[in-house]
Amino acid sequence: MKIVYMSMTGQTRKFVKKLGMDSLEITLDNAFQEIYEPYVIVAPTYEKEATSILNDFIETGHNQSYLKGVAGGGNRNFNTLFCFTAKDLAQDYHVPLLHLFEFQGSDYDVKFFKEKVNELG
Ligand SMILES: Cc1cc2nc3c(=O)[nH]c(=O)nc-3n(C[C@H](O)[C@H](O)[C@H](O)COP(=O)(O)O)c2cc1C
Repeated sequence: MKIVYMSMTGQTRKFVKKLGMDSLEITLDNAFQEIYEPYVIVAPTYEKEATSILNDFIETGHNQSYLKGVAGGGNRNFNTLFCFTAKDLAQDYHVPLLHLFEFQGSDYDVKFFKEKVNELG
């Protein structure tokens, strides 16, 4: 399973590096790249305009058919808006919401997320 993510200030990138899994960082330069293998998105939480490159990626070619789940990083100080980006992606593309964590995630978050990914097969 590949991990596809974006990161504005580096927190999500740190989380993904701790997973030690094959990963792809989405930026403005590669948002329309095609993928041909199953992947999970890890999304930080920002206003829609800032995270739309993830929608661009998912909607490119047949990329949506390979999307197996979504996880999100955020900040609980945002209360009801905690991790809304990942929640919206999971709902909009009809895939499981695997895990929500704060910033770069704890050791527990890393372990829990990896277990959820393994369960996807
Ligand atoms: C301008 C701004 C808006 C944010 N809005 C939210 C939010 O609505 N909900 C949330 O859970 N986190 C929010 N965050 C927190 C980030 O999503 C969180 O720090 C995340 O770990 C950042 O990931 P990154 O460093 O990979 O970009 C916001 C952060 C900033 C700077």
